[in-house]
Amino acid sequence: MKTKAAVAFEKEQPLVITEIDIDEPHAGEVRVRLVASGVCHTDAIVRDQWYPTPLPAVLGHEGAGIVDAVGPGVTKVAVGDKVLMSFSHCGECANCATGRPGYCQDFFGANFGGRRGDGSSSYSLDGQQISSHFFGQSSFAAFANVGINSLVKVPASAPLEILAPLGCGIQTGAGAVLNTLDPEAGSSIAIFGAGAVGLSGLLGAVIAGCTTIIAVDVHDSRLEFAKSLGATHTVNAAKEDVVEKIKEITGGGVNYALETTGVPAVFTQLTFALGVRGHGAVVGAAALGTNANFDIGSLLPMGITITMVVEGDSVPSSFIPKLVDLYERGQFPFDKLIKTYPFDQINQAFEDSAKGGTLKPVVVF
Ligand SMILES: NC(=O)c1ccc[n+]([C@@H]2O[C@H](COP(=O)([O-])OP(=O)(O)OC[C@H]3O[C@@H](n4cnc5c(N)ncnc54)[C@H](O)[C@@H]3O)[C@@H](O)[C@H]2O)c1
Ligand SMILES: [Zn+2]
Ligand SMILES: [Zn+2]
Repeated sequence: MKTKAAVAFEKEQPLVITEIDIDEPHAGEVRVRLVASGVCHTDAIVRDQWYPTPLPAVLGHEGAGIVDAVGPGVTKVAVGDKVLMSFSHCGECANCATGRPGYCQDFFGANFGGRRGDGSSSYSLDGQQISSHFFGQSSFAAFANVGINSLVKVPASAPLEILAPLGCGIQTGAGAVLNTLDPEAGSSIAIFGAGAVGLSGLLGAVIAGCTTIIAVDVHDSRLEFAKSLGATHTVNAAKEDVVEKIKEITGGGVNYALETTGVPAVFTQLTFALGVRGHGAVVGAAALGTNANFDIGSLLPMGITITMVVEGDSVPSSFIPKLVDLYERGQFPFDKLIKTYPFDQINQAFEDSAKGGTLKPVVVF
């Protein structure tokens, strides 16, 4: 059948909205009619080919929609169910089997490969294959064939335009704090980068009961907004010495820190801002080959831990429902980050996100 889709044909160029063909769902897949999809920074960097998903491609990996058809062998969901979509994982390797699907041994192939395991793709145009299954879904299309491991069923009353971005950006920030760092009540934390991911981490820190929450960014507007969400202190990295300021606020160094900028100099700041036995989580993406300074000499006696974190160490089928519960109780107001756009304005959504005017764009079909 045909579906409308936003296709990335060329590196660093706007997506093109056009009609393409979608094949029938294979075994273990369902066809989802998209209702909304978040736009994540990772969509932009793959459009720009920092990671080598073959173009042309349908990107998008924060989809939410309604099951339209089920492929052979699918029992987990039925036609008409509301679903959110998250990253793909095999479900069987040692890391998947022990509850760490973000570190699936086939993570890169399953999420960035642009093809099913058998080499086919869902989408084509005039007989030419278009990469599909981006993060198991390729949600910038009105219809997508999605592997069941990417699906999280939500209640019929769920507001899909709000919940869509839980599938990547929001769970990444919140999970890096709640799952990876797991700060104890009363502890201190610094959040480097007050974008969608960083602010989701900040909301996680509020839930965890951190009592010193320092937001770091280069834009005063984002820092002001961070305060409204619970930051107790802010540091403008363009105007102040970040490490000195954090040490002054915390009396020697922060207990926990989250890096969401992908900027090498910020990674180095994080390592120096941690106090003795501090723990830092890094989620900001950088192009392959990006290096940062790490002062082994000074930092070894500090006993710090740095963890590189994929998708907030989330098991989507259990963590996303928890975030939905917290949202419904008013304890996780991530909806304040969202601005919705009609699907046809998807390039505007990318642009507003890149310029910093919109924290979390969500396109609505
Ligand atoms: N690890 C994962 O699994 C995973 C998942 C989702 C997203 N990501 C990555 O997380 C990162 C953050 O995503 P986002 O949507 O929040 O992006 P964003 O662009 O909205 O946020 C980044 C923030 O960092 C700030 N910043 C830039 N340079 C800075 C500096 N020198 N000092 C302090 N702040 C600075 C920016 O002003 C911005 O507010 C991206 O790199 C994205 O690709 C990783
Ligand atoms: Zn696996
Ligand atoms: Zn993402």
